[in-house]
Amino acid sequence: MAATDDSSYRHLLAEYRERDNFDSVYLSVLDDLAAKLDLDWVRSCVAFGTGSGEHEIEFARRLLPNLTRFTAVEPDHESVKALRSHFESARQLPGVETTIAETCVESWGGVQKPVDLALFFNARCFSTPSTTSGVTLVGNCCTS
Ligand SMILES: C[S@@+](CC[C@H](N)C(=O)[O-])C[C@H]1O[C@@H](n2cnc3c(N)ncnc32)[C@H](O)[C@@H]1O
Repeated sequence: MAATDDSSYRHLLAEYRERDNFDSVYLSVLDDLAAKLDLDWVRSCVAFGTGSGEHEIEFARRLLPNLTRFTAVEPDHESVKALRSHFESARQLPGVETTIAETCVESWGGVQKPVDLALFFNARCFSTPSTTSGVTLVGNCCTS
């Protein structure tokens, strides 16, 4: 997953997304969720398969007002570069300590402290038997 050319997962996904309406549907779902879901209690989260992270960052911006720690687990190198830039340049999550693990969920070493929330946005489909045991691991890492 260390590709640096246009065949990287990031570039292929970006091209695909130019042909669908995922972003507009997603944003309207976020508005809906923000009105129904109280996630004020969430202080920390881990997000798996973030890609470049726009959707997870937008989710955190709108629904996690008290977030202080955000850990991302993503194996694709180009996506990680874009994610880092999104975290850093736009200061989209002020006051939030961000950590990126450039690895897949199966190889991820876990977090030091339990987290409140685990996010799998469009990434659960990568499930394999070992990923599934990773999900169990995630369950064990969460506080509730
Ligand atoms: C369809 S993209 C979703 C990106 C982002 N979450 C979103 O909703 O826009 C799936 C992402 O999962 C990552 N991925 C694939 N296999 C993975 C694995 N075993 N562990 C963690 N992430 C994985 C890919 O590199 C890719 O960035």
